[in-house]
Amino acid sequence: MKAIVVTDQAAGTAGMTLAERPEPPAAINDVVVEVRASGYVPTEVDWPSTWTDRADRDRSPSILGHEMAGVVTALGYGTTGLSVGQRVFGLTDWHRDGTLAEYVAVEARNLAPLPGDVDFTVGASLPISGLTAWQGLFDHGRLRAGQTVLAHGAAGAVGTMVTQLAREAGAYVIGTGRTADRQKALDFGAHEFVDLGNDKLADVGGVDLVFDVIGGDVQKQSAALIRPGGTLVTVVGPVESRPADGLAIDFVVEADRAQLTEIVQRVRDGRLRTNIGTVATLDEAVATFNSTERTKGKTVIHVHP
Ligand SMILES: NC(=O)c1ccc[n+]([C@@H]2O[C@H](COP(=O)([O-])OP(=O)(O)OC[C@H]3O[C@@H](n4cnc5c(N)ncnc54)[C@H](OP(=O)(O)O)[C@@H]3O)[C@@H](O)[C@H]2O)c1
Repeated sequence: MKAIVVTDQAAGTAGMTLAERPEPPAAINDVVVEVRASGYVPTEVDWPSTWTDRADRDRSPSILGHEMAGVVTALGYGTTGLSVGQRVFGLTDWHRDGTLAEYVAVEARNLAPLPGDVDFTVGASLPISGLTAWQGLFDHGRLRAGQTVLAHGAAGAVGTMVTQLAREAGAYVIGTGRTADRQKALDFGAHEFVDLGNDKLADVGGVDLVFDVIGGDVQKQSAALIRPGGTLVTVVGPVESRPADGLAIDFVVEADRAQLTEIVQRVRDGRLRTNIGTVATLDEAVATFNSTERTKGKTVIHVHP
């Protein structure tokens, strides 16, 4: 099968190639999915799990991509809950070969059914950004109606999900980003917008929850705004700055069928819009990921037509 492969960690994104790889077998509790569309997070080539297995052994050549939508083509021994021919979407194991390939093997419990009225491109764009936003706001941030959320990078893939889900949950949402991101953040539901290049974050006042996708100084300034009992949630590595009287949590998104189902239901009924920037084919993927043009929103690769 065709797949986007990396073999040289030092080469970074420039080391990606479109290669021929064997089709994956379905292990216990797995399904094999014919990938129709795949997402990709630009930092994947830097993640240790791209290069090693769970025992820390070299696992390259590695196939990139960890979110997808497609159709189940085979079941492993003992697999329950999904059937051959079913439309599915979800997040795959960081330590296994990924979704930028014609087929991927994945534990069935990591996937949810993809309703017939949600196309594969949209399905592939949802798992990482949707689950990250959901888990950060509700599992880790314990968001409640009436609270104020500072949503950094509010025009980005994760940030647009954070903004919409927080607002739907009854929060007051302050989005941040670059000057050019203002209208997009407001369009996705932010009540107000802070231009990190020109406005002062300190002028925002107290907030209950900071959702950090930037880190560094932005995280530091944001931690100082958190009200007693509030929470700083970050997805860009270990916490560097803690609120004086609150919680600080960093996490890596996990697969969750029930949450995927909640997310896709919101897409179906119009409560949630996905933020897709670029769509390309698997043959174009290497050039797309190496393009110097800044893409906004999620890049989705069409694999099987
Ligand atoms: N731990 C996890 O489970 C997890 C899950 C998902 C994502 N992540 C990480 O979260 C980060 C965001 O992911 P994403 O997919 O949402 O990326 P994205 O689509 O690029 O969104 C990030 C947004 O923040 C803006 N931004 C970044 N730095 C900024 C700064 N200093 N000032 C103003 N705006 C800034 C970006 O603007 P520009 O595009 O103009 O820079 C962009 O609009 C990435 O580092 C990703 O690896 C972690």
